[in-house]
Amino acid sequence: MTTVAAVDEWMNRVFCEDAVAGVQRIPDGAVDLLIADPPYGLGKDYGNDSDKLDAAAYLEWTALWIDAALPKLKPNGSLYIFLTWRYSPEIFVLLKQRMTMINEIIWDRRVPSMGGSTRRFSSVHDTIGLFVKGRDYHFDLDAVRIPYDAETKKARSRALFVGAKWLEMGYNPKDVWSVSRLHREHREREDHPTQKPLEIIERMIKASCPPNGLVLDPFMGSGTTAVAAKKCARNFVGFELNPSYCSMIEQRLNELAIASTEPVSVTRPELCE
Ligand SMILES: C[S@@+](CC[C@H](N)C(=O)[O-])C[C@H]1O[C@@H](n2cnc3c(N)ncnc32)[C@H](O)[C@@H]1O
Repeated sequence: MTTVAAVDEWMNRVFCEDAVAGVQRIPDGAVDLLIADPPYGLGKDYGNDSDKLDAAAYLEWTALWIDAALPKLKPNGSLYIFLTWRYSPEIFVLLKQRMTMINEIIWDRRVPSMGGSTRRFSSVHDTIGLFVKGRDYHFDLDAVRIPYDAETKKARSRALFVGAKWLEMGYNPKDVWSVSRLHREHREREDHPTQKPLEIIERMIKASCPPNGLVLDPFMGSGTTAVAAKKCARNFVGFELNPSYCSMIEQRLNELAIASTEPVSVTRPELCE
């Protein structure tokens, strides 16, 4: 059985192991922000069978990891969960029984218009749920405001608007985030089928994790959350089943570490024992 370890044995590390067992390394109430981008139950190939469950087994597994991970959140902690329309209704209901729902965010992946489905409307968005544990949840809107462009500022130059905080500081990003999915030509792109853009994860971290706070990602994939946390001066801890993706994470963190000369922190428990 996995037991809670000393903080330097898990903080700022990614463990190449099953998240459900692995989260037990972390003490309850230690995490400021949980970012979960689990398999969507759509049959993707992650080099394992994690996305090949039937609907009932998928929802059962979802409840299992949620109940393992949620106790790790602080009372003022938050959860962002990536889903699609297929299972977001069931999973949002499940989460509403445990937390308070704050937002449904639509990630518009900016998929270009091409042929597409002929028996339904083409689905071009992911559904993200923002849930909190308590009413005093951390939320720093100013850290993620989007600056107005010069033209808009000029158009709002009437005396009525001069000095208005929202005009100077930028606007609320709202709940539809139009950010291109990653293509080969994007410099941050890795060889992972569902890598999320840093822009999205950094926004979540800046808004919902205090400086020097801790972000937990049970499904690290290519390591976007670890990279974003480091770039935003937050701590991270995470898990990933596929050893090739663990190497990818190690590589990405290494590239950041070269700049900061810090040690890299991907752990394969089976190699360490
Ligand atoms: C949707 S992807 C995450 C992508 C990630 N957000 C990124 O930006 O690269 C889900 C990942 O979860 C991993 N995974 C699936 N089941 C897991 C489990 N029980 N424990 C740890 N990782 C798991 C898969 O191998 C896959 O890489």
